[in-house]
Amino acid sequence: MKLPDGPQIPRWLETIQLIIRPLEFFDELGERYGDAFTLGDRNNSPVVYFNHPQAIKEIFTAEPNVFESASPIHVETLVGKQSLAITDGELHQRQRRLLMPPFHGERMRAYGQLIRDITQQVMMKWTIGQVFSVRLVMQEITLRVILQAVFGLHQGQRYEQLRQLLGSFLDTVSSTLKASLLFIPALRWDLGAWSPWGQFVHLRQEIDQLLYSEIDERRQSLESSRTDILTLLLMARDDAGQPMTDVELRDQLLTLLFAGHETTASALALALYWIHYLPEVKSKLESETDIIRTNEDPSLIARLPYLSAVCQETLRLHPIAFQTNPRKLKAPLEIMGYQFDPGTVLVGLTYLTHNREDLYPQPKQFQPERFLTRQFAPYEYLPFGGGNRSCIGMAFAQFEMKLVLAEILASWQLTLVDQRPLKLVRHTVTLAPPTSLRMLVSGQRQSQKVLSVL
Ligand code: HEM
Repeated sequence: MKLPDGPQIPRWLETIQLIIRPLEFFDELGERYGDAFTLGDRNNSPVVYFNHPQAIKEIFTAEPNVFESASPIHVETLVGKQSLAITDGELHQRQRRLLMPPFHGERMRAYGQLIRDITQQVMMKWTIGQVFSVRLVMQEITLRVILQAVFGLHQGQRYEQLRQLLGSFLDTVSSTLKASLLFIPALRWDLGAWSPWGQFVHLRQEIDQLLYSEIDERRQSLESSRTDILTLLLMARDDAGQPMTDVELRDQLLTLLFAGHETTASALALALYWIHYLPEVKSKLESETDIIRTNEDPSLIARLPYLSAVCQETLRLHPIAFQTNPRKLKAPLEIMGYQFDPGTVLVGLTYLTHNREDLYPQPKQFQPERFLTRQFAPYEYLPFGGGNRSCIGMAFAQFEMKLVLAEILASWQLTLVDQRPLKLVRHTVTLAPPTSLRMLVSGQRQSQKVLSVL
């Protein structure tokens, strides 16, 4: 076996750096070791991080059976063993085939009006002079959207309870300190509802109860005409004609609820930050998104070039999931001249790939134009990963981002409360803008336009 170099520091120190300051740590390692480096136990379970596009391509295009999922224990703690983010092989492929269609094509576009309506409903609560936490408000929008897609409902008692519980559940693991409870099993002490781990376990039970009640009721009165994902999962049968178990259903639902709302909310908050941090980006976007005053077709909005470039550049500069899911080798593999034994874990380090000078000149700058002048290959630009484990919500998340941004920009004038550089924080298993990133509702665009006409 021939592994790339890596730092010779104790494992515990490595883990702490990965939890507390992952991006700074990766910047240092990238500067020192270049295209690839190794962390973890070099003799027993090495973890190799690649940021070179050629290596990423080889990982994404390798025969899927060469890998098994190496999702860390905290992902399983959050979403359960049967989640498609954890499963492997034929079962994993079957779960993907079942869950992909609602997030693509016509089925996805049918959510266009809903996304716009939900954004309008949330904005209706805004008044001029109000200050709000950008990430929390975006989370409200994306949670409502995903609950509708998954359960086909966006009102009612169970929905409201679920919405609140999921919010609190995420809060219990949101900060760096709390997230360490998920990463370091030895810290998981259940000392009752007031202890962080006890609180997490308690909330998870409450959410499970609601999910199992919903599953039970829907099973009793299955309406095959419904298009929501729970109905689809309830009707699915495996090769032996068996339906999914309640636990399997629960794990998939929770996976979609988690993966599907927090990530998109963070991406939206970051896009809003840059749009309002750089006046020239805002004015270009406003003239482009004015189209939605006269055109109601969501698909047209999703095709606006500058808006698309702003969303792409947001996820380039801030890949919310800063690395691909780890893949563990089941067979030997050679990548870029390195030979890896079975058991080696390979990771595409999106954050460093997106910061490569040779691909993205002045990589720390927000420049949407780079996506208007060049097309990037899937192994050069990979905010949604790639290969057989790529994000199933990729098209949906981008569609949602564009519609929400266009709707907000067409309706309100917003201003950043603090015009200062942004520092991301760890939020469960992703990176997010801090809740202290706030905006002021400074005016209404519609009325300003009317006034200027008068
Ligand atoms: C801006 C928003 C999002 C970002 C940046 C994002 C990013 C990612 C990334 C990087 C992966 C790992 C891919 C890999 O290892 O190759 C992933 C996996 C996944 N994502 Fe997303 N995602 C987003 C939104 C969504 C949405 C809206 C959904 C669902 C509705 C979703 C569902 C999933 C699922 C189920 C997986 C696991 C796929 C598998 O292991 O087969 N994501 N996502």
